[in-house]
Amino acid sequence: MSAPDAIHPAKPPNLDARGTVVAGPNESVSACISDTGGASDAGPLLRVEELRVHYPIKTGLLQRTNGWVRAVDGVTLDVARGETLGLVGESGCGKTTIGRAILQLIPATSGRVTFDGVDVLASRGTKLQALRKRMQIVFQDPAGSLNPRMSIRSIVGEPLRVHGVVSDADELRERVGTLLERCGMPRTAAERYPHEFSGGQRQRICIARALALEPSFIVCDEPTSALDVSIQAQVLNLLKDLQRDLGLSYLFISHDMAVIQHMCDRIAVMKAGKVVEAGSKRAVITSPGHDYTRALLKAVPVARPKPRTDRTMATT
Ligand SMILES: Nc1ncnc2c1ncn2[C@@H]1O[C@H](COP(=O)(O)OP(=O)(O)OP(=O)(O)O)[C@@H](O)[C@H]1O
Ligand SMILES: [Mg+2]
Repeated sequence: MSAPDAIHPAKPPNLDARGTVVAGPNESVSACISDTGGASDAGPLLRVEELRVHYPIKTGLLQRTNGWVRAVDGVTLDVARGETLGLVGESGCGKTTIGRAILQLIPATSGRVTFDGVDVLASRGTKLQALRKRMQIVFQDPAGSLNPRMSIRSIVGEPLRVHGVVSDADELRERVGTLLERCGMPRTAAERYPHEFSGGQRQRICIARALALEPSFIVCDEPTSALDVSIQAQVLNLLKDLQRDLGLSYLFISHDMAVIQHMCDRIAVMKAGKVVEAGSKRAVITSPGHDYTRALLKAVPVARPKPRTDRTMATT
């Protein structure tokens, strides 16, 4: 079986009158600021060019590779400083794979990722460690991403210890307390363990850990999908507050158009490993150019309460 395709040259985008870039059949479009009418003085913080991640399909006793899952198949996008780019699409379209490949948590098959001018995929050792301080990820399942045997102080403080940012236990205690408070948790939470908290509180702890090294970019991979609807809004608002106060940039992954609409400045719509439409939130939501985007938007529940006729208003 041959290796996956090498990088194809970028195709010119089909920029339509509404300002969204829409793909033709089997095409992938670029979700870059320059293509979609946004502006940035210092260039994007993150640039992903023609990224491909193909997983081998191994079968038989000898686990021979007899095919490839083209999870991400030529994605180009960028994220400006202080903005949120939403990545939306159905389950299995490759959203998580993009997020993980950007952070080098999984290897990319081909393509280029540049963070603040540094080639991420070519970085190794101390250079990669320095990049990892500035790029973090918050996962969908807060329970699964917290070690049940570690106290919250150890969990939130781990990046600080690993990167040698704190000099002693007192400084660690102080830094963890401040991070927890910043994420709406009491300082006393540091003494406790993950099972003692609700899903929303656990996600706040995960966010505190992601903030420990003062990153400038966070991949938010469906950070509220596992939470009750009532808690979702609180966590989303926390992420928005943090972005405003700390100048963070987010790649915000979701399959939920309503959440994307609430959180994002620009939107890239993914289908089967490719970006099929990209543009400003307004352009994509108000006049989607791709059938698939229209289908996603149709799935957003709209509150249209019927007027009650069986009740009379009290007049006092
Ligand atoms: N380690 C792996 N080995 C082989 N295939 C994989 C692996 N991880 C993911 N895939 C496949 O790659 C494709 C993209 O998966 P990915 O998890 O990126 O999708 P997703 O858009 O994040 O989905 P969801 O919304 O369900 O989280 C899927 O077909 C998935 O089955
Ligand atoms: Mg996913």
